[in-house]
Amino acid sequence: MLSDEDSETLEIVLRDALKQVEVVLIFGVFEKYNAITQSVLVRNCSQDVFHIEKICSASMDLLFSDMDLLQLSGAWGRECHIKRRHLEQGKQAVGSTRGASSHGQNPFAALVSPNTTEDYGEVYAMNFVYSGNFLAEAEVDMHGNSRFQMGIHPFEFEWRMNLGEEFQTPEVVLVYSGNGLGQMSHTFHRLYRDCLMPGRFGNMERPILLNSWEASYFQFTRNSLISLTKQAAEAGAELFVLDDGWFGKRDDTTTSVGDWIPYEEKLGGTLESLINDIQKQGITFGLWFEPEMVSPDSKLYREHPEWVIQVKGRRIEKSRDEYVLDLANPAVCDYLIRAVGKILEENPISYVKWDMNRNFTNTGSLFLPPEQQKELPHRYMLGLYHVLDCLTERFSNVLFEGCAGGGGRCDPGMLYYMPQIWISDDTDAMERLPIQYGTSLVYPSIGMGCHISDIPNHQTERRISIETRAAVAMWGNMGLELDFEKINSEDRQQIKKEIDFYKKVRTIVQFGDLYRLKGLENGNEYAWMYISKDRKNILLTYVQVMSHPNTVSKRLRLKNVEKNVLYRETVSGRIYQGCELTEIGVAIGRIKRDGESRQWLFEKISDNTGEADVK
Ligand code: DGJ
Repeated sequence: MLSDEDSETLEIVLRDALKQVEVVLIFGVFEKYNAITQSVLVRNCSQDVFHIEKICSASMDLLFSDMDLLQLSGAWGRECHIKRRHLEQGKQAVGSTRGASSHGQNPFAALVSPNTTEDYGEVYAMNFVYSGNFLAEAEVDMHGNSRFQMGIHPFEFEWRMNLGEEFQTPEVVLVYSGNGLGQMSHTFHRLYRDCLMPGRFGNMERPILLNSWEASYFQFTRNSLISLTKQAAEAGAELFVLDDGWFGKRDDTTTSVGDWIPYEEKLGGTLESLINDIQKQGITFGLWFEPEMVSPDSKLYREHPEWVIQVKGRRIEKSRDEYVLDLANPAVCDYLIRAVGKILEENPISYVKWDMNRNFTNTGSLFLPPEQQKELPHRYMLGLYHVLDCLTERFSNVLFEGCAGGGGRCDPGMLYYMPQIWISDDTDAMERLPIQYGTSLVYPSIGMGCHISDIPNHQTERRISIETRAAVAMWGNMGLELDFEKINSEDRQQIKKEIDFYKKVRTIVQFGDLYRLKGLENGNEYAWMYISKDRKNILLTYVQVMSHPNTVSKRLRLKNVEKNVLYRETVSGRIYQGCELTEIGVAIGRIKRDGESRQWLFEKISDNTGEADVK
């Protein structure tokens, strides 16, 4: 999946002479990026049918085991928290058998030396370019060697190999860093921006959007949408996203998923006329879909009950009032391409939020023959990727954002089609800190959707200032998810100010290099900075979660700023020399309240102290 014109491929062909089976180890070498990809191809050259029961994409043997396994784990609303444990003899693993890469475990794992921090220590990292069931495993043998592997989860997996057939696994990206997690992240970020994300999107400034979900959930009218859009546009937002509730007869979760026909009664006319009215506010339009699911109460389900994942004769479990469509069935994929394609074809839509809100249960297919039932989870993924291939190619100007109840499918498989991901449904700024820290280990800021939401926060009821909510949302593609009607004019002005500021710094965030300064140690203080691609600007952010009594103003030391370069801090006008920023640091000042933050923007004013353009 990853590609770069300078990359090279190495194929090692292994042949089992007795069984007449070939296994080809395929390595992609991305020298410019210091990364390798690996996948495995199996070829049946024999006269017999056989079944694959377990197959990894990458396997690495290390002659030592004094390492930690670092993983990104969590649950809905608290995805990608960093967890770390020392390797012991035997197996330690992370994985998913939920039909999606999952909120619980991200398809990322790294073996790191015990002293590894952001800047020091060895890291051997693997990230799976796949959005379905996976297993990452580190096994220490009796002699202290470790075997580190990643691939499709063998749980309930089987693949029938007919004569002459081939099976190729999805790719794993392998990254080594000798300088801690920071260097590992830089490798992943650059590689994914340049070689994974679709075409122009890796280098395209992302719009500031307002999403209607937390503003109105299912309760909206044409007038409420237009007034929300108007206020969003006045605040400086560039894109309005109509979330769930615009199709079928959808006023709550119980109905209509699968019937991708505009709910004109609720929209007060055709979707096209609504979009026209919205665009008159000077803002573009985006739409939410959940194509892979179906409501039992829908025309689609009534017409095609056989299209749902199910075990014949058994009751189908509902989750969030939905069933999962059987994407192993090409007729289902064709329907989705037609239904979503029709809406995109007929309406001026520049953005799609592609949601997926439940995992697999009753994993069976009425389309596949009994002997191929265990192929369903992988065939589902192949079907989904086919649908996404068709739609993203046909609508190549549409920006797709992936979502699975937040970060339930935040993986490079999705980023390949959808260059940004809504990484969590938890919009509380404090909760977002560990989520964004963990996610940023692997995924670039330009791939992370981060919104300023209302207070009290809808998930935690916490009240955090707009400044801090915005500062935290600027750790990615900042957007909004709030109801302007509930906000007083002073706060509206503040939001506008934050949006104006983000417009000034967004290229630094979206294309610059991220350095995490604080957060790994105690979880109470977070700080991160970006240096722009041309190294002319630095954006520095500090957030403290809980305040404590009897503290003094501390300093925040920056990273990777050239010693002799002079920078001016844009608010105070103070001039700093590079070595002052890295060795002495910036004074944070006294922090008195919970959830308080500071932000500094530095502009380069000279390359060395002798030639300062000091005004
Ligand atoms: C779950 C998503 O994560 C939310 O942002 C929202 O789109 C809802 N689904 C809509 O049902």
